[in-house]
Amino acid sequence: KTKVYKVERWNPEPHIIAEAAYAIRSGKLVAFPTETVYGLGANGLDDGAVRKIFAAKGRPGDNPLILHFASSEDVEQVAYVNERAKLLMDSFWPGPLTLVLPAKPVVPNSVTAGLGTVAVRMPSHPVAMALIKVAGVPIAAPSANRSGRPSPTEAASVLADIGDDVDIILDGGATDVGLESTVIDVTGPSVVLLRAGGMPVERLEEVIEEVKLVPDEAKKKRSPGTRYRHYAPLIPLLLWKNGVLRHSPLVMGKRIGYIGIKEPPFPVEEKILFKTPENYAQGLFLAFRTFEKKGIEVIVAEWPNSKGIGLALRDRLSRAAEEEL
Ligand code: TXA
Ligand code: MG
Repeated sequence: KTKVYKVERWNPEPHIIAEAAYAIRSGKLVAFPTETVYGLGANGLDDGAVRKIFAAKGRPGDNPLILHFASSEDVEQVAYVNERAKLLMDSFWPGPLTLVLPAKPVVPNSVTAGLGTVAVRMPSHPVAMALIKVAGVPIAAPSANRSGRPSPTEAASVLADIGDDVDIILDGGATDVGLESTVIDVTGPSVVLLRAGGMPVERLEEVIEEVKLVPDEAKKKRSPGTRYRHYAPLIPLLLWKNGVLRHSPLVMGKRIGYIGIKEPPFPVEEKILFKTPENYAQGLFLAFRTFEKKGIEVIVAEWPNSKGIGLALRDRLSRAAEEEL
C-alpha cells in the first residue's frame, strides 16, 4: 500500500525524510517534488531498484534516466566532469538544468541505456535536496507519470498515474516551474540542446558560447526520450498559431477547453488563462489533466512566442499535439 506524506516544503519533517531515504536505500521507489515536476526516485546505483522505475512507468528501456545530486562535488562519483560542466554547475545549480556527461563504470546500464553517458542534475527543491542528502546516494528519477502522460506537477497526479506501483509519495504541494529541466550535452566540442526546459537557453548563453539546437531527427538519436509521443492529454490538442487554428472542423460542436495568455478567439466551454509565459508553463500539464476530468472534448492552446521559457512550452505543446496534426 502506497504511503502518501504531506511534507513542509521549506522545512521537511526529518522523520518523514528519514523514512523515505531508508526506502530509497532499501531499493524501493519514492516519488518526490522537485522545482520542475515530481520525480519517481530510486537508488541510482542499484540496477534492480532502477528497473522498478521502468516497470512502474511502462517506460521503454532504451530511454535513459537523470541522476539527481545534492552537491556538485558528488557528480565526480559517476561522471567525468570537464571545465565547461563545472562552470555550468557553478552558475546554474541547484536549478532546472541537466548535463549529459561521459559516464563512469559504476553507473548501471539501466540508467544510461548503454549510451556511455549519464545525465546529472541538482534540483533546488528543499524536499528533493533533503531526500538525496539523507539517502546518501544519487537518486535516479524520471518524471513520475505513466509513460506518455503529462508530467505530474502535484502529488495527486502521481497518485492517479502510478499510485499502486510506488512505495512512498512525498506531497510537497505544486511545483514551481511546471515543465521538466533543460537537458544539454556537454560531452563534445559544442554544447547541444537535447531538451528545452525550465532553464532558458538565453541564460546559458550568458556564461558559455552558443548552445546548438539540433534538428529533431538527430536529437532522436542523441536523446532517446524525445523519440516518443509525450506529455499528451487523452483528448486532441489543437494549436492556435498566429491567428490560425488548423484542423478547425475538429472543434465544431465540441466542448472546447482553452489555455493561453490571450483571451480565446471564439466562445469556449472552459478556459484557463495565464498572466505570463512562466505561469503558462507552470499550469500547462495540470490544465491538460483538469480538462480530461471535466469531459472537455478538444483542447485549444495558444502558441506562445519562443523567448525564455517559451521555447520549452512550444516543445511540449507541439509534441502533445503531434498525433492530431
Ligand atoms: O525536470 C526534470 O528533468 C525531471 C525531474 C524529476 O528531475 N525529470 C525528467 O526525467 O524529466 P525524464 O526521464 O522524464 O526525462 C529525462 C530526459 C529524457 O528525454 C532522456 O532521454 C534524457 O533526459 N536523457 C537522460 N539521460 C540521457 C543521456 N545519457 N543522454 C541523452 N539524453 C539523456
Ligand atoms: Mg518524462
